[in-house]
Amino acid sequence: MVDKLKRTKIKQILSQGKSGEKLCAKGWVRTKRESKNVAFVALNDGSTIKNLQLVLDVPNVDESLLRKITTGASISAIGKLAESQGSGQSVELLVESIEVLGEANPDEYPLQPKRHSLEFLREIAHLRPRTNTFGALFRIQHEMAYAIHTFFHNKGFYHIHTPILTASDAEGAGETFKVTTLDLNDVPKTPEGEIDYKQDFFEKETNLTVSGQLEGELAALAVSEIYTFGPTFRAENSNTTRHLAEFWMMEPEMAFYDLEDNMDLAEEMLRYVVKHALEHCEDDLEFLNKRLLDEEKQKPQNQRSELSLLERLQFVAENEFERVSYTEAIEILKRSKPNQKKKFQFLIEEWGADLQSEHERFLVEKHFKKPVILYNYPKDIKAFYMRQNDDDKTVAAMDVLFPGIGEIVGGSQREERQGKLEQRMDEMNIPREELNWYLDTRRFGTVPHSGFGLGFERMIQFVSGMGNIRDVIPFPRTPGNCEF
Ligand code: 4AD
Ligand code: MG
Repeated sequence: MVDKLKRTKIKQILSQGKSGEKLCAKGWVRTKRESKNVAFVALNDGSTIKNLQLVLDVPNVDESLLRKITTGASISAIGKLAESQGSGQSVELLVESIEVLGEANPDEYPLQPKRHSLEFLREIAHLRPRTNTFGALFRIQHEMAYAIHTFFHNKGFYHIHTPILTASDAEGAGETFKVTTLDLNDVPKTPEGEIDYKQDFFEKETNLTVSGQLEGELAALAVSEIYTFGPTFRAENSNTTRHLAEFWMMEPEMAFYDLEDNMDLAEEMLRYVVKHALEHCEDDLEFLNKRLLDEEKQKPQNQRSELSLLERLQFVAENEFERVSYTEAIEILKRSKPNQKKKFQFLIEEWGADLQSEHERFLVEKHFKKPVILYNYPKDIKAFYMRQNDDDKTVAAMDVLFPGIGEIVGGSQREERQGKLEQRMDEMNIPREELNWYLDTRRFGTVPHSGFGLGFERMIQFVSGMGNIRDVIPFPRTPGNCEF
């Protein structure tokens, strides 16, 4: 009978493999070094950032087969494990038989065993998962999602799916992508000359959701504590390193929570998730830490960050966040050096100003040197559903600001008082009829409640230290870019 060994994943081989054991490994070739008698092949299958070293006895391998073992080719190899002679690995596989599953012509395969720029890799986003950096990111984002689910499961929250197709714009920013089956070349019109959505699929105007919050509130006002974790879509034309048109948001919603409970939960969750990464993504974080240190070396001394990636993560996991009211933050910013010396692009002149990312990052990175939770924002720069404070000027909003990222979480206590909510909707020209279902929760058995949204990719950005959000989602969607 021919050898029909089941494949063993490389992660398992490297952590548990015993010398003398016969096994089968499969994966993609990272590098090959060859001399007259022996060839070393570094094989990676994505189960770990580490490669398995295959040792080939060159005189015993068919020459044409050997030539097909090139960077990017996929192979299946059977052999016996042996303690490694070389440094860098504990065991290596002494190959007895090897098969090339898929060739990768070296003249055409765009990934070479060297460091490619992230810009170049963005252009070949369909192949970049095969690099060390993107392999690490895949494993980290999986662990992060798992940690978030575990955190909420352990607290007794229920995970619910909120709709992706909706007729509402929860944030009221008007940045929605329209959803329609109407023929755009021949749009039906009403006698008044407006688009006749009655003839559209849902018989009304619809869009992709910008947030699952409003539906999440309906569920929380029945079963107390829920979270939704899904894709959200925003047609904002922001070409920044922190904005995507399609991103994933994790949104918990809790009955009987006030703003302080909400801040406590957000902080506990963020620190839990960062700690989880430190404990479960060691190899990948070590690689990214080194990657970042190398990158920093290219920068002038005064632009380098004070802490390494690993130190930053440790710091967040171990230290309490600073909590500051918007009003205090404005005072700090007004008096700050970059404001006095007119270094900010947007100068802070008076209370009520919307904070830009330069201000958020000043507070976090220069002033407090730790994550900051800002709360009680002016009502005019926040959404209609936030609870109005007694001062008539502010709402019970909170944003969590992280070093290198700026806003990572946005949330609030919700306006649970029907009259106050309706009054605010009227002021902001949000038609009550459209949100009748939402208002019903305030009509019937309303309770104080709160929630927040965590931008998943911004979280991955923080944990991985990647500078551009386009590099932490496998297939980024940004203005002018919707490949694959
Ligand atoms: O602050 P935002 O807009 O809050 C909401 O949507 C609320 N409905 C959440 C809630 O209370 N349930 O967005 C929440 C988070 C931001 O803090 C940010 O991390 C992320 O979502 N985010 C984006 N991430 C990537 N690209 C974008 N265009 C983003 N817009 C927001
Ligand atoms: Mg926000």
